[in-house]
Amino acid sequence: MNILVIGGGGREHAIIQKLKEDPRAETIYALPGNGGIAADAQCVAIGAKDIPAIVEFVRTHPVDFAVVAPDDPLVLGAVDALEAAGVPCFGPTKDAAAIEGSKVFAKDLMRRYGIPTASYEVFYGAETALSYMETCPLPTVVKADGLALGKGVLICETREEARQAVRSLMEDKIFGESGARVVVEEFLTGPEVSVLAFTDGKTIVPMVSSMDHKRALDGDKGPNTGGMGTVAPNPYYTPAVAERCMEEIFLPTIRAMAAEGRPFKGCLYFGLMLTGDGPKVIEYNCRFGDPETQVVLPLLEGSLLEIMLATAQGRLAEVDVRFADKSACCVILASQGYPGRYETGFPISLPETGANEHIYIAGAAVKDGALVTGGGRVLGATAVAEDLPAAVEAAYALADRVHFDNAYCRRDIGRRALRALEGGR
Ligand code: AMP
Ligand code: GLY
Repeated sequence: MNILVIGGGGREHAIIQKLKEDPRAETIYALPGNGGIAADAQCVAIGAKDIPAIVEFVRTHPVDFAVVAPDDPLVLGAVDALEAAGVPCFGPTKDAAAIEGSKVFAKDLMRRYGIPTASYEVFYGAETALSYMETCPLPTVVKADGLALGKGVLICETREEARQAVRSLMEDKIFGESGARVVVEEFLTGPEVSVLAFTDGKTIVPMVSSMDHKRALDGDKGPNTGGMGTVAPNPYYTPAVAERCMEEIFLPTIRAMAAEGRPFKGCLYFGLMLTGDGPKVIEYNCRFGDPETQVVLPLLEGSLLEIMLATAQGRLAEVDVRFADKSACCVILASQGYPGRYETGFPISLPETGANEHIYIAGAAVKDGALVTGGGRVLGATAVAEDLPAAVEAAYALADRVHFDNAYCRRDIGRRALRALEGGR
């Protein structure tokens, strides 16, 4: 079976390595992939958002199945286009991807179907939003409606920050048309949990839970990034919380999407906050999280390809989805300066890896036959171990065996999770 994977980051590298474990997988094409993925797949220089070129590619190459991993092509309708060209896909259609593509759609869906989330107002113009900012409770959270490279959420402590947030999204349009509408929502507090789930629109099977570390610097300081590291499972996500999430959030969400005529097939990501009032949805993503995937998939037992095929064919209920009773930690090695300006082109020296170690390449190119840095997040060093303390230690031991100039990583990935395990909050 020839498989097409759209995307080119650490998430896609983890997906491709897991797909390859199934003997049915023959050629894997990565569009565009990256210099590190090239060791595991045939990379083709077609951008993930270039849907006409992707369709042309499947017309001229033997592709049996496609996995569309990033948010942009999903929201643009890559699955609809590929299926129209006769290629079955893992991933939601454009209508279903709106659960991530439009925060207004997602919030209104939750309100209509009674799914717990922060209370909110939607604004269509800067003037009304600005006048709301004069009286709303603080802190407040201002979110661009559309995709904004994961940076469209502004947490405002003061009225001046709140005014500035509205001006930059709605007047200066720092995220373009994504900011034409904004959601202003209640500020929630509590531990955050990421839960990715396979769903074929009827059945939903949550994967092992995880915890992301979004801020650039130790102690959750500095700007938001795409994610600087992850651990799985997330110790805050107890069996009792999981049961409550299934009843109050997961099942109601897929039923709501089906009822709206937008059945969701693929990986649905629940960004949850465990508040004093119970678990609430902070955000939905229509895809695997990055770097959550780099700790979740190494713990998956059995064939990812089989699960993805079953998801696409609407027979997920028939498949046994199991995760190892172990822990995983992923430490992201980034280029110094990320998420701001950074330099690239430095040679990367990679260590030999053992059976419980994985290096997932996120941003790298091949120059004169050698792997060099090519992005903000360069790679993820993941280790699997019997428990979380051992996984964290092993992930740092692995990360410390990787070398490139200007490398940067947080040194406290997993610290909060380890404290929670010890009984602190
Ligand atoms: P998002 O891009 O939606 O994942 O949001 C980025 C981060 O902003 C989340 O991981 C939370 O830490 C934070 N956040 C988003 N919405 C809220 C909220 N209503 N209350 C508190 N923090 C929030
Ligand atoms: N790690 C968060 C995300 O993938 O959106």
